[in-house]
Amino acid sequence: MGPLAATRNLRSIRDRGPTFVDADPLPVIAPLFIGQLKIDPPILQAPMAGYTNYAFRQIVRELGGAGLLATEMVNAKGFVWLTEQAAENPDRLWGVKEEPRPLAVQMWDNDPATLAKVGARLANEYKVSVVDINFGCPVRDVVQKAHSGSYLLREPDRMGEIIERVVAACAPTPVTAKIRLGCSRDKINAIEIAQVVEGAGAAALTVHGRTAADMFRGSADWDHIALIKPHLKRIPLIGNGDLDSAQKVVDAFRRYDIDGVMIARASLAKPWLFSQAAAALRGDPVPPDPTLDDERQLLLHHFNLICKRFGDAKGSLLMRKYACCYAQGRPGAREFRSRIVKISAPAEFRAVVERYFPRDC
Ligand SMILES: Cc1cc2nc3c(=O)[nH]c(=O)nc-3n(C[C@H](O)[C@H](O)[C@H](O)COP(=O)(O)O)c2cc1C
Repeated sequence: MGPLAATRNLRSIRDRGPTFVDADPLPVIAPLFIGQLKIDPPILQAPMAGYTNYAFRQIVRELGGAGLLATEMVNAKGFVWLTEQAAENPDRLWGVKEEPRPLAVQMWDNDPATLAKVGARLANEYKVSVVDINFGCPVRDVVQKAHSGSYLLREPDRMGEIIERVVAACAPTPVTAKIRLGCSRDKINAIEIAQVVEGAGAAALTVHGRTAADMFRGSADWDHIALIKPHLKRIPLIGNGDLDSAQKVVDAFRRYDIDGVMIARASLAKPWLFSQAAAALRGDPVPPDPTLDDERQLLLHHFNLICKRFGDAKGSLLMRKYACCYAQGRPGAREFRSRIVKISAPAEFRAVVERYFPRDC
């Protein structure tokens, strides 16, 4: 099935009748600008390592509703090594040169010169719309071994230097930063960091409302995210964490002083969530979730996109995790998961999807 057919199939979901988010008045939402770039709607697809590759972004694009899409995070030193020594593009930049804009590429590292060099190439050679820098990743290898990601939240001066260098190297392409609230609950410094980010010339700040020590435990602290806003004079604040429904997106804009929202994990199970949230923000009826038959078709379409790039064997292995996400929360998901994680070839993948992917009763 071609990309458009997948989207067309999903139209049948409209037949099941739309719903509205609750009747409270919608907030007036000003357009979100990252530099000169208008992000409309102000709903961003989050970078997720291992997931938000070209195939996933293509699915999100076809379903609509995300104002800005983002790649997985790319290691700047690895990028330099691969492109200069081995003359290859990193797998994580699959599709980036050709696909539609707007598109953000996220990079991570702790060396200002390397980040500036890679930022310049992303801006000038890859012509991306936004260069984002990761200051939020809490993963051991990034934090403890590479002193990057959320490690840098304890070094605001170095963050400032990194951003200044990258902004200068990428101009006029806007540079943004993504952070957590701090390294740990007793070291929350998001306001200080936000001022450093703005002062160094970044064009937007995204805040995941947890600390690095939290990993993914507990709930995102949106009160703390909103506390940052009065301290920003020029750049927009994008809030992130735990948004998994159109209602929650509308509530985030209603309750908190933010300019945009970013959605990550929930979009792996529901890549159509962006279009539902966008409809809700416009005050339109929210399209229902697709039928399970439509979702099965979407999963197979996603599988084809992945196999085209990675080949049948690697593509089948890669697709197992996405398939588990699609089935999440559906009746029969456990049985499906237990079978799909054992497949290793396309025919097996398709057979398990046809036989065990949850069905409408
Ligand atoms: C599997 C996975 C991979 C992630 N990879 C990245 C990444 O590459 N860069 C980044 O800034 N955040 C990354 N994140 C964090 C998300 O972008 C987001 O900040 C976090 O999941 C909270 O949003 P959510 O509650 O909507 O999931 C990742 C999260 C997950 C679950």
